[in-house]
Amino acid sequence: MALTGLLCAVLALAAVQIVNAVPQHNKRFACADGHITSNEVCCQLFPLVDQLQSDLFDGGECGEEAHESLRLTFHDAIGFSPTKGGGGADGSIIVFSDIETAFHANGGIDDIVDAQKQFMASHNVTINPGDFIQLAGAVGVSNCPGAPRLEFLFGRPPPAAASPDLLIPEPFDTIDTILARFSDAGFNASEVVALLGSHTVAAADTIDTTIPGTPFDSTPGLFDTQVFIEVQMRGILFPGTGGNQGEVESPVPGEIRLQSDSEVNFPTINSRTACDWQSFANNQAGFQTAFRAAMQKMAIIGHDRNSLVDCSDVIPVPNPLPATAGPHLLPDTIQGDIEQACATAPFPVLAALPGPATSVAPV
Ligand code: HEM
Repeated sequence: MALTGLLCAVLALAAVQIVNAVPQHNKRFACADGHITSNEVCCQLFPLVDQLQSDLFDGGECGEEAHESLRLTFHDAIGFSPTKGGGGADGSIIVFSDIETAFHANGGIDDIVDAQKQFMASHNVTINPGDFIQLAGAVGVSNCPGAPRLEFLFGRPPPAAASPDLLIPEPFDTIDTILARFSDAGFNASEVVALLGSHTVAAADTIDTTIPGTPFDSTPGLFDTQVFIEVQMRGILFPGTGGNQGEVESPVPGEIRLQSDSEVNFPTINSRTACDWQSFANNQAGFQTAFRAAMQKMAIIGHDRNSLVDCSDVIPVPNPLPATAGPHLLPDTIQGDIEQACATAPFPVLAALPGPATSVAPV
């Protein structure tokens, strides 16, 4: 009897220890520097986040480095296929940068890979590169007003090998190829649309090299829904030379449009994504929720969620969109400039910004 009681007590203690080993979302831990977090191991990340803000993101801007860091989260993570290999979000793009930055689809990524490598070396960063890339991406996005606060899970092991080539979608891929590649990595068409919303805070350097820093929408410093609106406006011009691989006509000078973004919302090419794309045009909250959920999945490709610790509370809380922002048509355009793509619902009616047509400024 006494032995049974002792056994029960030991088992109960073991159970408590097991439960304690699992990250608890509602637990609070006070770090030595005063930050509160859900798990003690997250404490080391608060100073790192401060350094990222001051030394990589120019004091907390939604600028080029923040945009590039978001792109890098994708280019590291999508390097995974159940049949072709690759470790997903493992930092291989940094550790094996000689191999991976040479992939065609990684054009222009070397700048941020170099910047993050230098940052890690000069700041004596001890976390693994797979964690660092996703942390930097989540912190960078938090600088963009209107963004959701992304999840950050901590504890990815170092990469075992470089990712194989040809796993990263290209802007000149067909929509079928793009959706098949994402599906292979575990994403459905709706999640692809949500992820492509990242092009709301984005610009291209390599599509038309005569006009580096040309944004995909008119508000590249805001995590708003303008990309879903402006990609659906009738294309009338090339902002630079034209005739570049992966580029189609855009609606306004100074703005560039990827062929892939255009195909995703074009009905005759792809009825699977056109209505999802349109649904975000005037739905900031829906876009935030869908983007956060899809990023949550993307950031841990190749890992078991249960092997990681939730350190999301180290990510700064993004500012909301300014009161002056909101879904709109470009100045001097009309509703008829929208190319209806979704077969089952009309595009939302939006007002144009006042004033004459203007060129979009580079990032
Ligand atoms: C079909 C899938 C995708 C294609 C074909 C694609 C293609 C591209 C291209 C060609 C650029 C311009 C690169 C340059 O010339 O500098 C770009 C930029 C960017 N992409 Fe994507 N992308 C895709 C999906 C994604 C996803 C899933 C994310 C993130 C979740 C993402 C985030 C970004 C960002 C933030 C930039 C801007 C980088 C900067 O401003 O420097 N992209 N993308």
